[in-house]
Amino acid sequence: MFNRRQFLYLAGAGAASLLNMNGFPFTKAAMAASKNTEFSPDVELSLRATPSEVQIFPGQPTTVWQYTGQVIKGDPNGLMHLDQSYLGPIIRVRQHQKVRIHFKNDLPATSIIHWHGLHVPASMDGHPKDVIPTGETFTYEFEVLNRAGTYWYHPHPHGRTGHQVYGGLAGLFLISDAEEEKLNLPADQLDIPLVLQDRAFNRDNQLVYLPRGMHDSMTGMLGDSICVNGRPDFKLAVSTRAYRLRILNGSNSRIYKLAWSDGTPLTVIATDGGLLEKPVEKKYAVLGPAERIELWADFSQYPVGKSLELVSKYFEPAIQGRAMGPRRGMTGAETLPNGAPFSVLKINVATKETETRSLPQKLSAIERYQRQDADNAEHPRQFSFFMRHMRGLINGRTFRMQEVADDERIRLNSTELWELANDDRRMGMMMPMPHPVHLHGKQFQVIERRGALHSGYVDEGWKDTVLLMPGERARIVTNFTDYKGLFLYHCHILEHGDMGMMRNYLIT
Ligand code: C2O
Ligand code: CU
Ligand code: CU
Repeated sequence: MFNRRQFLYLAGAGAASLLNMNGFPFTKAAMAASKNTEFSPDVELSLRATPSEVQIFPGQPTTVWQYTGQVIKGDPNGLMHLDQSYLGPIIRVRQHQKVRIHFKNDLPATSIIHWHGLHVPASMDGHPKDVIPTGETFTYEFEVLNRAGTYWYHPHPHGRTGHQVYGGLAGLFLISDAEEEKLNLPADQLDIPLVLQDRAFNRDNQLVYLPRGMHDSMTGMLGDSICVNGRPDFKLAVSTRAYRLRILNGSNSRIYKLAWSDGTPLTVIATDGGLLEKPVEKKYAVLGPAERIELWADFSQYPVGKSLELVSKYFEPAIQGRAMGPRRGMTGAETLPNGAPFSVLKINVATKETETRSLPQKLSAIERYQRQDADNAEHPRQFSFFMRHMRGLINGRTFRMQEVADDERIRLNSTELWELANDDRRMGMMMPMPHPVHLHGKQFQVIERRGALHSGYVDEGWKDTVLLMPGERARIVTNFTDYKGLFLYHCHILEHGDMGMMRNYLIT
């Protein structure tokens, strides 16, 4: 089953020609979206996706795929490039700004950008039907309606999303608003983005994707090098004061059970869709692929010279006996299964400074949904996620580009209760998989759930992705306002989505 060409991910001409073969229809229709002349943007950016090289290890640079960007109009700090990283620039905007983004595809493959977590019109959401071929540009125009928070962007070509994100294509999309600004949270160099991703590198420092073929597709791609902002062995020097840590799990498949190494509880202040009502203390926080949390991290009680780690603790899906620490291996995947413990990053308290801030006890106003708020409170829509015969299924159906089933049609302005179930266990899967379920276009609230890692979930705020461990189910409520059209919902283990665990819902 081992395929040498697959193994040499993105390296050399042979692999590059392999990447060209992704037979998706090219849509020119997508371009029509940019013809709206009445839209006058406050912010105009260009983003380009291109093959590139990054020095990650000593010796040979690593070939990656990367977003680069430029500010055409608006605050020049609206784009922030991370040093020596394959990640795309951090986009910073304010709520209610009108944004125009020109996406130029210079990859040897079709692609499209999706704004993960953003509430945008269907035509601006980066649906896989809107992929553009090499050399073309797609122009996005939308008003930023979301509240302040840590969102992100990544490619969404069907069947290739896992591959393209793994290659380096992802970036943060940070939104600020008036409610957040009043809090005077740690800002600038005290506001630190941390994108967590695992990668497998070969001896030539090149990324390896799905070295064991179908087995890796089933588990989702797992690497043995834990990268933070694109760097393995990430270290952070801090001073004795409070920081805002914005954490994105940008991994294809890895789940993190985050904790401080010295047992100090985590102080969580935000989730996928922005600030919580009030800070929540957690012994540990579980973060599935695509989920975000923000931490208030106060180092003022530590002496200068103190070192500390953010770790991921053991949890059950680890294959017993293989739950060892990260090692830089040949094929990676087997040395660090999901659930194995490892260090995420090291913190060194380097300088003494006097803290001037204290943690606000009220962060934001969130109107909590109750089950009765849903129009279908007595008849929740049921969605069952499971793998079968090497295919990802939702209610027994696999992804078709434009297909919408009867139970996937939603009325505009309705408030709905959805019950999401991970039924791998019920389907008798040999190795039941977690399924982090993500809805495009909407933030929702988790109103009820049953599951194993329960005390690590942060369900108090707005979410766009909810992790379901094998056998677990969750009930969510949201209202489908503003935009009609076709939106995706899918498992955010990217290989599961690529294997068809993805469907459309249609708002009419
Ligand atoms: Cu991160 Cu279809 O989404
Ligand atoms: Cu999304
Ligand atoms: Cu899945």
